[in-house]
Amino acid sequence: MDEELAPRPEHRFTFGLWTVGWQARDPFGDATRPPLDPVESVHRLADLGAYGVTFHDDDVVPFGSDDADRSDHLKRFRAALDETGMAVPMVTTNLFTHPAFKEGAFTANDREVRRFAIRKVMRNLDLAAELGADTYVLWGGREGSEVDVAKDAQLAFERYREAIDLLAGYVEDQGYGIRFALEPKPNEPRGDIFLPTVGHALAFISTLEHADMVGLNPEVGHEQMSNLNVTHGIAQALWHGKLFHIDLNGQHGPKFDQDLVFGHGDLLSAFALVDLLEHGGPGGGPAYDGPRHFDYKPLRTEAIDGVWASAAANMRTYLLLAERARAFRADPEVQEALAAAGVPQLSTPTLAPGETWADLVADPTAFESFDADAKGERSHGATRLDQLAVEHLLGAR
Ligand code: GCO
Ligand code: MN
Ligand code: MN
Repeated sequence: MDEELAPRPEHRFTFGLWTVGWQARDPFGDATRPPLDPVESVHRLADLGAYGVTFHDDDVVPFGSDDADRSDHLKRFRAALDETGMAVPMVTTNLFTHPAFKEGAFTANDREVRRFAIRKVMRNLDLAAELGADTYVLWGGREGSEVDVAKDAQLAFERYREAIDLLAGYVEDQGYGIRFALEPKPNEPRGDIFLPTVGHALAFISTLEHADMVGLNPEVGHEQMSNLNVTHGIAQALWHGKLFHIDLNGQHGPKFDQDLVFGHGDLLSAFALVDLLEHGGPGGGPAYDGPRHFDYKPLRTEAIDGVWASAAANMRTYLLLAERARAFRADPEVQEALAAAGVPQLSTPTLAPGETWADLVADPTAFESFDADAKGERSHGATRLDQLAVEHLLGAR
């Protein structure tokens, strides 16, 4: 394999243990693969060149384990991390599998469930801190409803806010260097999930007492399930300084959550996304410096060989797209086409330095002599840019 395309720890690729470990049980069929020992996953992913793993509490210590079992599981897991040098940059909580959470966790109508959910997160935050994680993801898979009249949504937001501010306060009091990342998703498993998109989550975060400690973990497929432009969503998260983490995967438009290998859905969108993550906006907007985390499901058709092939495919596709994005940006014809399309002009503020609204009103070129028809007739060169992107993507340039 091309040296440059071999995944290495410095690329900071990470995988959820639940991704390769998914046994491919779906609503219509049984598991098609046997359980995978997290210890084996850590070793295999390290061999493939990953930097680290992430996990839900229950991925490493099965729900309901007693203290002795818990410490055995953790001992084996830590030993695998030590042997491989794999990092744990992010940890999360399973607040969705056990039937106790069927009506919600932080936003359950039942207060006892809400108190248990918060305790479950606090316990796992202690472990996350011990393992050196700096990000804690909160995906509210069961926070929502199927029946509008069965949930007071405004009160649900109050309880959601209460839970997250309480957890942030706990992290602060313990002195853990951890930030929270909320993961939006429109639906599945609930009929409708609260905080369905990047935009909803950003607005919610602005209401928190600990807003500075809370950002986002957007997932490619989740935005695309909502028929939204994921690159725009990620750009907005970066612009707000809130892209704390990311879930990379693939999706073919609005349908059930496919969790395909990264790039195995909308490839042009994946190209634009990698370009943004690696280089930031063409006008100097921030890039992303966190782990490149894959949250995908190996296809149900595949046996264990396909699990490792798909894990490798995520990383190789990312590296290929990063290489293509570098070539795109370095191509003099692309630079010329960007200039011809006026893309760099957007960096010029609309008012001149010191200019006021009164100066704008006094400027006849801004209105009285503005030639709207001439502007309406010009061509913006977007097709040429799109084709240049496609040609780079296909290796034709
Ligand atoms: C999903 C979600 C989950 C979360 C994970 C981390 O659609 O199932 O993407 O995979 O990312 O639970 O909290
Ligand atoms: Mn998903
Ligand atoms: Mn996810």
